[in-house]
Amino acid sequence: MPLLNIFDYEELARRKLSKPFFEYIAGGADDETTLRRNREAFERIELSPRALVDVSHVDLTTSVLGQAVEMPVLLAPVAVQRLAHPEGELATAGAAAQAGTIMTLSTMASASIEEVASASNGPKWFQLYVHRDRNVSKSMVQRADAVGYKAVCLTVDVPRLGRRERDLRNRLEYPPGVAHQNYIGEVELPPLEVGAGESELSASADVLIDPALTWEVIDWLRSFTSLPVIVKGIMTAEDARFAVDHGASAIVVSNHGGRQLDGAPASISVLPEIAAAVDGRCEVLLDSGIRRGTDIVKALALGANAVLIGRAYIWGLAVAGEDGVTQVLSILRNELELAMALCGCRSVAEVGAEVVYSQARPD
Ligand code: GLV
Repeated sequence: MPLLNIFDYEELARRKLSKPFFEYIAGGADDETTLRRNREAFERIELSPRALVDVSHVDLTTSVLGQAVEMPVLLAPVAVQRLAHPEGELATAGAAAQAGTIMTLSTMASASIEEVASASNGPKWFQLYVHRDRNVSKSMVQRADAVGYKAVCLTVDVPRLGRRERDLRNRLEYPPGVAHQNYIGEVELPPLEVGAGESELSASADVLIDPALTWEVIDWLRSFTSLPVIVKGIMTAEDARFAVDHGASAIVVSNHGGRQLDGAPASISVLPEIAAAVDGRCEVLLDSGIRRGTDIVKALALGANAVLIGRAYIWGLAVAGEDGVTQVLSILRNELELAMALCGCRSVAEVGAEVVYSQARPD
């Protein structure tokens, strides 16, 4: 079957992976309303084609937190990637480096901070879930800094894990040898009993993630690290302002791919008001629902500096390991380049609000 787009990779991944692993990646919280909404919202946005602009060269390069990237598409943190492919995060890191973009390693990764650093010297960020024992998290951030990660991406939308009913029905458990590697040596992990109504991830999250965090956690992070702090999981203008006030260098407008609060709006729907509230005081990134180059154009037009993809690259990983991630990144790159050309945009900076039809139309 020809693999022309991200949906083709998803379909092939569905055939290759066992049902619990596919559903862990594909699924969302509760009724998956927000999961679907992320796609529907992108589909509703109309783009304005432009005529007779010389688009023989379209430049996709940009920079994010001072880091030059080949395109405004970064790799979001995704937990336990060895569920998708035996090489997991190591394959992802290689493909990100080859594509000239940033990979974000999850706290819940199935390869350690150090293993991923030695697998690739491409630019990397470390995603942080703050442990109930702050020393565990402090140590992880210091480890990441020591081996060259360039930022901490603090996830703030998981005080409790969303209820992913597919995982609960499947009683998702990791295969032998797959574990949350970053905790090894940091904390004694009691043998986990995955009971009825639980998954290995939900049971682990209850133990590993502090549900009591407040905005003070950003001040705490900044008290011991000079790495820039990216706050991921912002969905309101007010929270965006709090993040900026606490010194965030960037925020990620994200509903966690529909995996946390079901009923939340699509990330792309709240992006314009959040970008307006931030008003250039920090960088604004977006994830949740990106599957097409046109989605990336829509996000850039509505105020994002760049986007992150999650499931999209994991489908590539599942299909063909590092090569699969490379192929997915190349598809998105080509789609983005074509979409920009057809919108008359020759550079990322030229993708302005007028590219979205409703923004350009007089009321
Ligand atoms: C972990 O962050 C997940 O969404 O599964």
